[in-house]
Amino acid sequence: MMKSSFPPDFLWGAATAAFQIEGAVAEDGKGPSIWDTFSHLPGRIRDGATADIACDHYHRWQTDLNLLTELGVNTYRFSVSWSRVLPSGKGKLNPSGLDFYNRLVDGLLARGITPLLTLWHADHPQALEDAGGWANRDMIDWFADYAALLFDRLGDRVQHWITLNEPNCFLYQGLGTGSIAPGIADWKICYQAIHNALVAHGQAVQRFRASGHSGQIGITMSVDLWKPASDSIEDQRAAALADTQNNFWLLDPLFGRPYPQDFLAGLGDLALQILPGDAQTIAEKCDFLGVNYYWKNVVRAGQPGLGQAAKSEYTAAGGEIYPAGLVEVLQMLHSRYAHPAIYITENGLYEHNLPPVDGLCDDPQRVQFLKDHLAALEEAIQAGVDVRGYFFWSLMDNFEWSQGYHPRMGLYYVDFATLQRTPKRSSLWYRNFLSDRFNRSSL
Ligand code: FCB
Repeated sequence: MMKSSFPPDFLWGAATAAFQIEGAVAEDGKGPSIWDTFSHLPGRIRDGATADIACDHYHRWQTDLNLLTELGVNTYRFSVSWSRVLPSGKGKLNPSGLDFYNRLVDGLLARGITPLLTLWHADHPQALEDAGGWANRDMIDWFADYAALLFDRLGDRVQHWITLNEPNCFLYQGLGTGSIAPGIADWKICYQAIHNALVAHGQAVQRFRASGHSGQIGITMSVDLWKPASDSIEDQRAAALADTQNNFWLLDPLFGRPYPQDFLAGLGDLALQILPGDAQTIAEKCDFLGVNYYWKNVVRAGQPGLGQAAKSEYTAAGGEIYPAGLVEVLQMLHSRYAHPAIYITENGLYEHNLPPVDGLCDDPQRVQFLKDHLAALEEAIQAGVDVRGYFFWSLMDNFEWSQGYHPRMGLYYVDFATLQRTPKRSSLWYRNFLSDRFNRSSL
């Protein structure tokens, strides 16, 4: 497996998200966001951590862009904090907030790195949440207006856009189970919010086309594997249900299919308000699908949470490390949705790493993870799946939502006391792989 066996124009990158790295939560006119609020609620985040400083990327962005150069990636995925640009979500622009992203984009281009910008990565202004958030249909217009503002201000330089990151994951957990921001546990609100978010995505795509800017736009979904723990009919049914809820419920309408009918019928009292035209808006043609793949979930009937299969390795979050699942997921998307162009917008290992010794943090599991998943990616591409890029999650250790600073998923280790970044062995491996000097013997 070598870089040269991938398409020549393949995008190789690393990914981050604004709330997880920026810090500076109340600086230069930024408004409060749902994650600012949630992370300050007692008992909601492991060890009571907040992201008030996080990686301090807001002030150290140049150092971080230099890490990208050091890695040798040709692209970088980041997200914009909506509440930095529009402190109350709509209306008055905060010029200093926008300037931060102007500097970031210019800094990337100056380094020859292609920006891939995510508009909503799990966080939005608290003022909009106070007005109902995604459960309020007005959010569709608020999001589309925010998107159009960024197309207008950054679209001369940004050519790759993602509307939403993982509405499946973040809205099920944020509004269904209530385990993350905004912390509402109400399934009726949750399903309506997902529907509204999908319509908002479609409207943003329409606004992008109307803006006349060149470039590509898509959406990112978490697409994990959901497998039965045994051959029993009950386990198989439970796994199929989890697959529908987590994957097909959102993917099908995005690709112009109706909502999965069995599941829709089963929603009963949770029934959705769907307006005429919504299905067409949701299915507005995108240029690519972003896929976040992390692990395989083993589903047992009647048992919430994850099962475990024998003889497997697990991440610190309990998912089974399963590189072959990447091939399976990609082939499924390829055949079910008529060969979409795909970027792997996230893939990484949920692990705890020890502090660096002599300037290097040893993370052999992550090196193995990278090798195995890139080999799987190569296999999928050779089987005909149209994958055009790969973004490792994450560039550096960061604030992992309700888990605080515990899982360290970065290619670079961050000391959260000194904020110093130190390479992990995995960053050296990735860098070596991406460099022209790479050869088989170094594998
Ligand atoms: C994904 C999120 C990302 C990060 C990784 C570990 O679900 O999109 O922000 O938290 O998981």
